[in-house]
Amino acid sequence: MEYQQRRIGVLTGGGDCPGLNGVIRAVTKTAQNEYGATVIGIEDGFEGLVEGRMHELAHREVSGILGLGGTILGSSNRGDPWHYPSEGANGRVEIHDMSQKALGNAGQWGLDALVAIGGDGTMHIARRLRDAGIAVIGVPKTIDNDVAATDVTFGFDTAVAVVCEAIDRLATTASSHHRVMVVEVMGRYAGWIALMGGVSGGADVILMPEIPFTWESVFRKVHGRQTGGKRFTMVCVAEGAKLPDGAEVVQQMDARRTDAKRLGGVGAVVAQAIESGTGHETRVTVLGHLQRGGSPTACDRVLATRFGTAAAHCACTGQAGVMVALRNGSIVPVPLDEVTGSLRTVPVDHDLIAAARSVGTCFGDQ
Ligand code: F6P
Repeated sequence: MEYQQRRIGVLTGGGDCPGLNGVIRAVTKTAQNEYGATVIGIEDGFEGLVEGRMHELAHREVSGILGLGGTILGSSNRGDPWHYPSEGANGRVEIHDMSQKALGNAGQWGLDALVAIGGDGTMHIARRLRDAGIAVIGVPKTIDNDVAATDVTFGFDTAVAVVCEAIDRLATTASSHHRVMVVEVMGRYAGWIALMGGVSGGADVILMPEIPFTWESVFRKVHGRQTGGKRFTMVCVAEGAKLPDGAEVVQQMDARRTDAKRLGGVGAVVAQAIESGTGHETRVTVLGHLQRGGSPTACDRVLATRFGTAAAHCACTGQAGVMVALRNGSIVPVPLDEVTGSLRTVPVDHDLIAAARSVGTCFGDQ
């Protein structure tokens, strides 16, 4: 069967995560093998679309990259065409609307469709591009697992595996020295990584944005373990967990980013509070970008391949304005309007929270 749409652009936007190369590979191979399409790799996310940086992806370039971390195309969380940063004469950040430049480049390159691989920020931009007439297909990525309308994003499983291994490793040294170990994990405003990573690593305390906690509850749990037999305690805290006064711990504000707020530092605050509140020796480890780097798990490679092939089919058959999503085990296209505007945080009645409570995990609220 002959299809009209033959020039497909692909870009990776926002923070990177394991599995991006698997999607790029699947999009490119499917479009080339099944539709004879040309695939254009746009460099550094939407920055490349604004600044006109791209190259045609050859089969050779996407071969052998399934297990490779990062993204061969580069990525950026500062490339929103409608909120495009540049440095002014006085060194101050200036924000400009560069959307016409981005749209102009897409037209000049003859793109019939654009596959945008990214998180909620990328899906928001994808929707604006759709409104401006571009045939966009979204693919949900992020270690945070917070994109609406899909049961899971690729990258999340790998991040959870890293957290699980880190807690396992830290537990042995915590046990030797009878210490409290606080592990700060990523996840932005959602507690998915803290919950799944914490439960899989057997954390004794999990603190996450969705569940307000009190110091009394945390101190009681820690003191009970330190004095009641085990004599070590593992605390897993999400970077977005709010302190008992409701405050988030913010490392930096950066107007150039799609989301100006850069979270980080709550682990140190929690560790300090536990040590002074209980008198038990406490250490903190911030896992940071270890959760995003390196090779994807088998599960993420499979999901990346499923998402990428589905996105290529959409792009080459004229189905646009959608994001490919995993729902009840199947990959389905969902309208971009269903995706943007809300984050998928952890429901407080999630069965894993109940299961964790049943095995004695403290969420700092009881
Ligand atoms: O969205 C993915 C993520 O890793 C978040 O968990 C984290 O808050 C943020 O990106 C960190 O961004 P950056 O790498 O720009 O510091």
